[in-house]
Amino acid sequence: MNRVITKAGKDKKIRNFYPGLFADELAEVPKQAGVVQVFSDENSFLGVGYYDPKSRVAVRVYRFEDGPLDKKFFQQRFGRAQQKRAQLGDFYRLVHAEADGLPGLVVDRFGGVLVVQVRNRAMEALRESWLPALIEVAQPAGIYERSDVDSRRQEGLPEQVGVLYGQVPPVLEVREDGLIFPIPLALAQKTGYYLDQRENRRRLEQMIQPGERVLDVYSYVGAFALRAARKGAYALAVDKDLDALAVLDRAASLQGWRVDIRQGDALAVLENLARSKTAPFQHVLLDPPTLVKKPDELPRVKRLLVDLLRPALRLLDREGWLWLSSCAYYLGVDALLEVTRRAAADEGRRLRVDAIHYNPPDHPWSLHVPESLYLKTVVFQDDPL
Ligand SMILES: C[S@@+](CC[C@H](N)C(=O)[O-])C[C@H]1O[C@@H](n2cnc3c(N)ncnc32)[C@H](O)[C@@H]1O
Repeated sequence: MNRVITKAGKDKKIRNFYPGLFADELAEVPKQAGVVQVFSDENSFLGVGYYDPKSRVAVRVYRFEDGPLDKKFFQQRFGRAQQKRAQLGDFYRLVHAEADGLPGLVVDRFGGVLVVQVRNRAMEALRESWLPALIEVAQPAGIYERSDVDSRRQEGLPEQVGVLYGQVPPVLEVREDGLIFPIPLALAQKTGYYLDQRENRRRLEQMIQPGERVLDVYSYVGAFALRAARKGAYALAVDKDLDALAVLDRAASLQGWRVDIRQGDALAVLENLARSKTAPFQHVLLDPPTLVKKPDELPRVKRLLVDLLRPALRLLDREGWLWLSSCAYYLGVDALLEVTRRAAADEGRRLRVDAIHYNPPDHPWSLHVPESLYLKTVVFQDDPL
């Protein structure tokens, strides 16, 4: 096996289970891309990874003891990932990249169908080893690939979308706590469904009283809104994605609940609603997409969030609940608190922080990989004196 040697001090990253080294952290590299053993400048063994000078991260480390990156290795990784999720039913994230020791691979399980995303050059090159291992361990009826993410473009890899293995129905039936969402895979966002908000949706449903009003902004297929409707609340879902709202419409009518739908830009819809003097909402949810991909975008995005929060607060009932999420690594809890404080000051509202929630256990947050903490949800309550 070829070797790479780290520069002095850079071995600490790998010793601390961080799975990546940049090109400028390496003292010696092989001539070609491929599987490598990683050694420190003092010649101590650190791990086994994949070296590719064309990748944004030159070495991705997959194991911290010696051994090949073969089918047997990937069977162990998938087996372990599956074992950790044994209590989660049939719909969950099976592999959460680095946090499951598999940098560059995401696998969501939707019953018998797996949806995979291959995000880096290393996992692309190792496909022949991991794909048969995944099939053997997870035994899916079919696998669908949605490798059309930004990170893949940054790696210089082409998009790859379509059936990878077995039988995949054109419409995925996603089930969550008794709700059913018929999602056409070809039209869906990301891997098809935002599994990572499941626990927050449960929390919301538990809090809702019949007759309350719930505003689900950035709703996607309205999984928050539909739960609210199931509890006897009035629910209004807002998203710019018409295909997603069509799924919500079908899901609601199949199950006999009513959800109102507004297609459009979130900010414009919130401002319109606030102007129209509609009745206040007891719950307002804001779950925007990944607005920040680089730290220098943060000031602009904070201003956008303040602009969104102002009408959201005007629409919030006295003692109502505001749910603000960020799925952007660079937009952390402190930023969410800051923008809400700014908007609350503008609107003369006093809020208390009720709870802060993070990505759920099937999207693990590894202490060693700070980027694996990506989803933050702050729940505020209006708190007049
Ligand atoms: C993180 S997802 C929301 C997930 C959803 N809350 C759930 O539980 O499934 C973000 C959503 O924001 C929508 N979106 C993005 N930009 C938007 C905009 N300017 N106005 C309205 N919706 C937008 C996307 O279509 C996507 O459905």
